[in-house]
Amino acid sequence: MLGCAIELAQQAGKLLADNFGKELKVDKKSRHDIKLEMDRRCDEIIIKGIGKHFPSHAILSEEAGASAADSPYEWIVDPLDGTVNYSRAIPHFCTSIALRKEGRMVLGVVYDPMRSELFTAEHGKGASVTDARGSSTRLAVSAARELRDSVLSCGFTKDVETVKRGAEALPVLAGRVRKMRITGSAALDLAYVACGRFDAYFQYGIHLWDVAASSLMVEEAGGKCEVLRELKPYCYDYMASNGAVQDELRPLITK
Ligand code: IPD
Repeated sequence: MLGCAIELAQQAGKLLADNFGKELKVDKKSRHDIKLEMDRRCDEIIIKGIGKHFPSHAILSEEAGASAADSPYEWIVDPLDGTVNYSRAIPHFCTSIALRKEGRMVLGVVYDPMRSELFTAEHGKGASVTDARGSSTRLAVSAARELRDSVLSCGFTKDVETVKRGAEALPVLAGRVRKMRITGSAALDLAYVACGRFDAYFQYGIHLWDVAASSLMVEEAGGKCEVLRELKPYCYDYMASNGAVQDELRPLITK
């Protein structure tokens, strides 16, 4: 199953890389979001591939929603995380595929086609990153003990009210951490927490498909993930960190 997830993430990633910077068809635009034909095309590759190898498994994807299959196995797919970046030829986006069994995340794959970085995690077996030269490193979260030494990343969702809440939290946080970052790809941000590039991540109103695969990476790398509040099905106020700064960060973003 891990092999299948890797193969499909890389196939979708290749399509994204081949079309990067080219003229793109926009399916839909809203106040704070954009949907591209490329989201759908990548989704089709992944959903078809899963269906071919595991026809009885359920699939939840950002683009197609939830399948009707009744199975202990459920794949959770974000074919293009960082669509706005991709639409502006900003080379920071990825494909994310997770699998949960009976409600527990068992594997996660995040592929960044611009850097050819492949992040993987399996429950109980750790997480790793393989770089463009094919060299693999086991993931471990950072050693930062306090927010004052931390790089904190955050994201903004699509709806106006939640964007406002996020913006209100920033001034306090910016004064407490060493640096803040807003990169536009939650799945990559969390993979970066897992490998120690970032110390923590938070977002009001994040969706399950954005964080499913890389939350497992954070946990397998020794960090912590937490749903602070469920706003609606598959949508949460959420934080993740190296574990050490979790208690210091939580009260600053819980409201
Ligand atoms: C978006 C990215 C972004 C996060 C947004 C997501 P998408 O995913 O993960 O970082 O802040 O909430 O919607 O829509 O590009 O797959």
